[in-house]
Amino acid sequence: MTRAVSTWRVFLIGFMGAGKTTTGKALAHRLGWKFYDLDDVIEDREGKSVAQIFASSGEAAFRRMESAALRTLLQDVVTPGNLIVALGGGTFVQPENRDALEQADAITVLLEAPLNELRRRCELDGKKRPLAQQAEKFDRLFEERSAAYEHARFKVDTLGKDANEIAVEIEQLVKAVLKVEVRK
Ligand code: S3P
Repeated sequence: MTRAVSTWRVFLIGFMGAGKTTTGKALAHRLGWKFYDLDDVIEDREGKSVAQIFASSGEAAFRRMESAALRTLLQDVVTPGNLIVALGGGTFVQPENRDALEQADAITVLLEAPLNELRRRCELDGKKRPLAQQAEKFDRLFEERSAAYEHARFKVDTLGKDANEIAVEIEQLVKAVLKVEVRK
């Protein structure tokens, strides 16, 4: 199979608190690739924080911005080079985003952790998350999203590991994909 694009893109998926950003930075550092955090891309484009967008425009508007920002990261001409991207916790839940990632032959990696650990990490990391304000909603979203997350190409258990250890595991997965794909 010939790839439609000549660069490699790794997308980190997972619930809020999964460690997508910290792991993504560590992985980008190891591979010498560029790193993007999708929430940061949206905030830069809109000139507002994610929390402000949710408050002023609502979640549906945020999801549209999120899909648009994702598309920019899938286009070689707009963001050239090999990339590591940390998605938001809800990005991969939208079927159109999953389709776009699949069509772009992206490498998708799910970072897994149990619910109580995700809750703990969200409380610690200080990021303002509109969907983590109510414990019940947080727990419900975790259940609702698990089926969508199953579509990821790879899964990595993050419990008890630091960002660099997780990055080492993903680096091995990515290098194996690159070897196989390049041979085709
Ligand atoms: C969201 C997760 C957030 C951010 C927004 C919505 C979600 O990103 O995109 O608050 O729907 O789970 P993190 O997963 O990086 O916290």
